[in-house]
Amino acid sequence: MKLRHATGIAAAVVTLAASSLLSGCKHEKPNFIFMPDMYYSPAIKAQEEGAMRMPVKGTVPRGFSRYDFEVENNEELGRRLTNPLARTKAVLLQGQKQYNTYCIVCHGPYGEGDGSIVPKYPRPPSLQSEKISQWPDGRIFHVISSGQNIMPSYSTQISQEDRWAVVHYIRALQRAKNPTNEDIKISEAM
Ligand code: HEC
Repeated sequence: MKLRHATGIAAAVVTLAASSLLSGCKHEKPNFIFMPDMYYSPAIKAQEEGAMRMPVKGTVPRGFSRYDFEVENNEELGRRLTNPLARTKAVLLQGQKQYNTYCIVCHGPYGEGDGSIVPKYPRPPSLQSEKISQWPDGRIFHVISSGQNIMPSYSTQISQEDRWAVVHYIRALQRAKNPTNEDIKISEAM
């Protein structure tokens, strides 16, 4: 009985000594965790099984418009997908903003395939090519919406309206490099 008592006192002394020693230390984190469950909760990675919640069937993100063309045929795309935006200054600026945000890193400032991540990333074909100049707007829109081979789709990042504005901007880049007589006349008149 006596011995137990003595041990108890000794333990209390040691504890006091230790805590006064430790009180000189700086604590960046509390050494006592009030609710350990909240610190050490089992983490589930976003893509892990069980963490992914499939949206209810038919759910679409806010502001999303459906896009599901399977065709890659110029004529059909040109006919079915026509640019709804007029080529105004505001639209060109809107397109430029999107292009400079999403496309320029690979395609370069004039679409010549000389973006800043090339050649670490494979050089994309030039958007100044005759092929792209002859593509209908709908085909360019389709590539932005669905991707093409190693180029990913931008349908989740860029709204349909912004994609059409980008198409106008690409046309402006093409005309900047290869102005038509009409463009030259306009710039001379200015
Ligand atoms: C990560 C780099 C990257 C980004 C960003 C990117 N592209 Fe591309 N793009 C490519 C590559 C690479 C190809 C060639 C794909 C292939 O092999 O068919 C390509 C192909 C294209 C083509 C077809 C060219 C052709 O001759 O077949 C168009 C049009 C195009 N991109 C437009 C855009 C637009 C507009 C954006 C921005 C919304 C964009 N790309 C963003 C890499 C990129």
